[in-house]
Amino acid sequence: MATALSQTLAPALKAIKDNDQNVSQAIGKEKGGVDYSLPSPLESFAQEATENAKTISEFLRSNDLPHPSFARDAPANAFLSAPDDVLAVRSKLTEAALRLLQLARGPQEYIPNLTENMQYIACLRWLTHFNIFQLVPLVGTISYVALASQAKVSPELGEVSHTATSALLVTKPELHDWAVFMTGTTTPAANKLVEATEKWPEAVRKNETAYNVAFDTDLPFFEHLNTDPQKVKEFAGYMKNVQQSEGAALRHLVLGYDWAAIGKGKVVDAGGSTGASSTALARSFPDLAFVVQDLRENVDRGKAAAAELPADIASRISFQEHDFFKAQPVHGAEVYLLRMILHDWPDADAVAILRELAGAMGSGSRLVIMDSVLPRPGSVPSTQERMLRARDMTMLEAFNSLERDEEDWRRLLATADPGLTLRGIREPMGSALSLLDVVYTPSKCRLCGRGSCD
Ligand SMILES: C[S@@+](CC[C@H](N)C(=O)[O-])C[C@H]1O[C@@H](n2cnc3c(N)ncnc32)[C@H](O)[C@@H]1O
Repeated sequence: MATALSQTLAPALKAIKDNDQNVSQAIGKEKGGVDYSLPSPLESFAQEATENAKTISEFLRSNDLPHPSFARDAPANAFLSAPDDVLAVRSKLTEAALRLLQLARGPQEYIPNLTENMQYIACLRWLTHFNIFQLVPLVGTISYVALASQAKVSPELGEVSHTATSALLVTKPELHDWAVFMTGTTTPAANKLVEATEKWPEAVRKNETAYNVAFDTDLPFFEHLNTDPQKVKEFAGYMKNVQQSEGAALRHLVLGYDWAAIGKGKVVDAGGSTGASSTALARSFPDLAFVVQDLRENVDRGKAAAAELPADIASRISFQEHDFFKAQPVHGAEVYLLRMILHDWPDADAVAILRELAGAMGSGSRLVIMDSVLPRPGSVPSTQERMLRARDMTMLEAFNSLERDEEDWRRLLATADPGLTLRGIREPMGSALSLLDVVYTPSKCRLCGRGSCD
């Protein structure tokens, strides 16, 4: 029980402790908290924020790019074309701004402020559920009375129009799917973590989670999702939106690994959903062909999406219904890709997935795992750490699984098959995911059972 409970406890405690701990680490150099000859922590963070904001604004100005603002036509992401050094400055800016906000509010307000986020999430669920974002015109205003009548809710007085943020929920349907999924599935599951721990203190199985309590089901997350085509559609949109976020952008997959060095070859994209990763890679590497494997619903949706692609891309991407717990049907591919897969699975399941892949890998095959590699607490900006710890919690709540640190990854690979060797880890700038480069050296021949002659 101690192990299972501490497994539950660790990410929850870390998530909340990171806040204070990192602030003290960041400002802890001042002895006893007060040294009047130095700028105060408030001043230091404000100055750092100002300097970084200037650098970024100069970059945007000199490249004739729009500045982030609260205007209706503000860019959804002003930093899309920013180089790594500007992205690094932006990361420092968000870090300093967060610290500043935390210090300006102080410990007394920290916990009450958490409830604001909870209520914002509740609002987002209400607004998406009643289709409010779509009912507000993209240009001009609508009266609350007209809006309420269309949404069939009780009216208010006055007029309403879109902001840049709310309009994005209309123009980017995948962001709407993300919001519906996050508020209607992830949040209710998060709220049942206590009940799940009470019910299954030793839980390691995938169907003994907060999600199972919240949705009153014995089915694991993906199996339960697959019973409802609407949820499958929402989740596919959710994933598409995640991929468009800076931290999970597909360009990190494209640029973060030396795909060109493979030359002509086949990539098996296991659990590849509707093929977004393979499509992005196919666009950049014409010598590579792809097999996207997933469960039936996604394969069907992927095939439909691929039909819209230019012929030279579509002809190199095939789809295959395949359960990654079963024997891998494609043998000796140059690369097996597992992107955002293993963090969904507790260790025993992740080991089973890896074993099936290892069974199909030849000595020239590589395995590319793209997933988070958790940093040591306090070793990265807390804006990044908060996101990673939150994701760790989500994995626990939905799957009884976890985000892993480097040691966890090494142990997992060695447990799955001693022939799997981690050659390197690379985390591209701005990415929340790392690329783990794994090679396979068979420890014994699969034909004769001796040596490594295959
Ligand atoms: C978090 S998504 C990642 C999708 C994709 N690799 C990406 O990077 O966007 C996990 C994927 O695993 C798929 N999946 C879940 N269980 C599976 C199974 N047993 N066999 C194959 N795919 C599965 C889901 O349908 C989903 O598409």
